[in-house]
Amino acid sequence: MMELFTDDVRRNPFPLYAKLRAASPLLHEPQADLWILFDYDSVRRALHDHEAFSSIVATETGTTPDWLLFSDPPRHTKLRNIIMRAFTPRSIANLEPHVQTLSRELLDVTVERGEMDLVTDYSSLLPAMVIAKMIGIPPEDRARFLRWGDVIMKLSYTIADGEESKRAMEENSAARNEMRTYLADILDERRRVPRDDLLTRLVEAEVDGERLDGKEILGFFQLLLAAGTETTTNLINNALLCFMEYPDQLARLRAEPALLASAIEEVLRFRSPAQSMFRSTKRDVELHGQVIPAGKFVLPMIGSANRDPKHFHEPERFDIGRDPNPHIAFGHGIHFCLGAALSRMEARVALTDLLERLRNFRLASDEPWQPRQALHVHGPTHLPLRFEPGARS
Ligand code: HEM
Repeated sequence: MMELFTDDVRRNPFPLYAKLRAASPLLHEPQADLWILFDYDSVRRALHDHEAFSSIVATETGTTPDWLLFSDPPRHTKLRNIIMRAFTPRSIANLEPHVQTLSRELLDVTVERGEMDLVTDYSSLLPAMVIAKMIGIPPEDRARFLRWGDVIMKLSYTIADGEESKRAMEENSAARNEMRTYLADILDERRRVPRDDLLTRLVEAEVDGERLDGKEILGFFQLLLAAGTETTTNLINNALLCFMEYPDQLARLRAEPALLASAIEEVLRFRSPAQSMFRSTKRDVELHGQVIPAGKFVLPMIGSANRDPKHFHEPERFDIGRDPNPHIAFGHGIHFCLGAALSRMEARVALTDLLERLRNFRLASDEPWQPRQALHVHGPTHLPLRFEPGARS
């Protein structure tokens, strides 16, 4: 079953999902003792039923860190309250002009060349710069910030044992030390001079009357760095992949730009940036006539759920006008993605600019694209494009 994680399958896992979903929507992989869910109803249940499925997960190499994403109520509720207010519709709307400026600046540097690697020149930079600004990281520290993000994403290798897992753990521990030293200085500064950013919010936040300690703040920092970058990068990448694969839908979007928001939802469904999440069973759980014993590692496959024919009409068709589109690319329930509105806004700005400035874009290489390093993420590591430069409106 680990063929799910080979490069070939990760480029296009959907035929294999369809086969497995039809044959057995709950699959036990004995080697890694993984329980994998493929159908919409059980994936959605695992994501939201926190009585039966915990977000605190033990792997071969230890337990998940003490982050919001990996916590259960009541701690989860308290941690989530601390940063929820930073992600209100109004805060996101206030950020939009900044995102537009960043996007234009990035494209101004590259567009005249008539070719670019979408990932290194644009899509990996924009979300990182946005989240860095929200957190309160000065622009000169961006390169470091990006590198730390990469190291955290590689931690997905640690679901299995072996060399790669060991290397990922070592790199992560070195990066964590760097982050700790870096944060200590910048947090001192915020204590002295508060600002309107997430670092100040974290310094001032209290849980049960107590301030967060250095470890807890580091956890938030790492989570936002990982969650805020890789996923949105791949929403943008995957949108361009979809448009190149389905030129009729691109033409439709160019003719009817009002479909952009709906097109973004369809990309989220069709090539979900986060293909899977993880849970562990708190007790024995019966699903599809089988029992997952307590304490087992469960992989709800979001990318497969979003193609389940029981919930989507002609799921293998990319249709930018799809309505209804009840995809669960951002999860479901108490852990529903805090950054959903932010990443929808970033994708809207990015795709408006890319469609305007990259006229007639096409792949600049025949090589199959290399999947992202993080195993649960769907999208290319590089996406070389050729195009005719379009003027800025
Ligand atoms: C296309 C972009 C994105 C996708 C597909 C995505 C996907 C997800 C998913 C599936 C979850 C649920 C995890 C679970 O149930 O265990 C989640 C949670 C989360 N996401 Fe996102 N995400 C995206 C962008 C962002 C951005 C831009 C941010 C922040 C800047 C962010 C921050 C978070 C946080 C903090 C959580 C944890 C929420 C909790 O545990 O209560 N995400 N995301």
